Amino acid sequence: MTQAGSQYAMKVPGIERESWCGLRRPGRVVAAAALAWACACRAFVGAADVGRGRELLLSKAYLPADFDQEVFDQLWTLWPEPLRSRAERAPVEERRRMAMERYGLTPHPDDPSRSLQYVVGEGGRWTMSCLACHQGQVEGRVIPGLPNSNYALETLTEEVRLVKVKQRKPFGHMDMGSLLLPLGTTNGTTNAVIFGVALMRHRDADLNILQRPPRFDLVHHDMDAPAWWHARRKTGLYADGFAPKGHRMLMQFLLVKENGPDKFAEWEDDFRAIESWIESLEPPRWPGEIDQPLADRGRAVFAAHCGSCHGSYGPGADFPERIVAIEEIGTDRVRFDSLTAKERSELNDSWFGHHGRDTASLRNRESPAGYVAPPLDGIWATAPYLHNGSVPTLWHLLHPAKRPAVWRRTPTGYDRSRVGLEVEELATMPAGKLTSAERRTYFDTSKPGKSAAGHDFPDALTEDEKAAVLEYLKTL
Ligand code: HEC
Ligand code: HEC
Repeated sequence: MTQAGSQYAMKVPGIERESWCGLRRPGRVVAAAALAWACACRAFVGAADVGRGRELLLSKAYLPADFDQEVFDQLWTLWPEPLRSRAERAPVEERRRMAMERYGLTPHPDDPSRSLQYVVGEGGRWTMSCLACHQGQVEGRVIPGLPNSNYALETLTEEVRLVKVKQRKPFGHMDMGSLLLPLGTTNGTTNAVIFGVALMRHRDADLNILQRPPRFDLVHHDMDAPAWWHARRKTGLYADGFAPKGHRMLMQFLLVKENGPDKFAEWEDDFRAIESWIESLEPPRWPGEIDQPLADRGRAVFAAHCGSCHGSYGPGADFPERIVAIEEIGTDRVRFDSLTAKERSELNDSWFGHHGRDTASLRNRESPAGYVAPPLDGIWATAPYLHNGSVPTLWHLLHPAKRPAVWRRTPTGYDRSRVGLEVEELATMPAGKLTSAERRTYFDTSKPGKSAAGHDFPDALTEDEKAAVLEYLKTL
């Protein structure tokens, strides 16, 4: 046990970690016990690949670096007052902690000066990893595969670019990319789907690089990344389920021009291991009390009103992976409309989709009818809800007419009674001029792609039934 074991050797103050292989770990951790536990956990899963997959995500950079430590350590010089003065007076460790909070990053358990979401390599160079969007926290607890609902990618990129100008450093691919397309208009959500489309424009089916002008007709929209522990229950990936599951599909994010087709072939085995780790993840358990009689009533209501789409849970669990027509679900349709049948089939017909597949598994994926009803395991932890992250709590999901038009979360607050993000609710965006960084701390459902409408099924329930379903959802 080398590096993987050392991850358990230290506990970050204020951060309760769940096991990195996804199995739940009781109690507090001391180094030796944790090491033994980590080994046992691997043996239990029975796949060496699982541990390797996790380790690769934490330690291997697949993209060119985004910035160096010197840039990261000067970001505070751009912050608004009084934050800037506070940072100026603070010791460097505290300043780094403040920077992580501002950009939605989590300190690495082995070395709190680094972030879990970036690989920090030689010379202190930081490179974004999959975990930037796919590793978050809830109530200060890092849960493997939980989406990062705090990630402020656009604000980080904007401020990095300004520091690089001051330090006369060259721009990287994110600095340039963000001049061509928005990265994310609300913290915690990103334009990730369109990054993929924009990058695929410059490749043929075998991923050879094509020199073509960029597209200017893309439908930008922000998405909330799904929990990774759902992947094992699905056969198709993404909100509309159009991409058959497979390790190659996970590699789209590596399509920068520096990575030619040879790199994809070279790294394929790494992504088998990464996929194994993702498939090993388990949903986290609700940390509070459960009113069991109420939850039992909720189970029956759920089975009658929700189960035909969302499946059943517990012994004999069944997941139908049902695609619900866009008109029936009625949630924001920008994501649905943003991909054409041609784009979907080009991806599936490319190297990413061809992987020991019979053609039948690829057929009929180019024109899905709507969105997949996702599995709801561990749903308490994955706020905000819906594919665009427009609904801050499960209570709001169950009360369609009471969903806020504009909301703003507290930095890491969690609302245990409504189950989800602790938010301030507003009728409209605040009057007066906001900086772009401030604007991204609000979720404005009036903007394109950000509507919180639809999924009105809970309207059929009485208030008592809703309370029971809410209690039941905590047990999944
Ligand atoms: C910039 C943010 C971002 C980064 C970085 C990122 N993803 Fe994602 N990922 C998303 C979003 C958003 C979705 C949902 C897209 C959709 O449903 O259309 C997603 C979807 C997925 C899914 C599908 C899950 C499901 O249940 O359908 C998997 C698996 C996944 N990503 C793996 C990865 C891997 C592996 C990497 C690194 C190589 C990565 N992602 C990098 C944002 C990101
Ligand atoms: C007709 C099928 C259908 C029924 C019935 C249904 N849902 Fe859904 N549900 C969906 C679909 C599809 C989505 C994804 C919509 C989106 O993201 O835009 C969804 C999303 C959700 C989400 C958010 C998931 C996430 O990860 O963000 C929750 C929670 C949920 N449903 C709970 C319920 C409950 C509780 C009921 C019963 C009162 C219910 N649903 C009834 C189809 C259904």
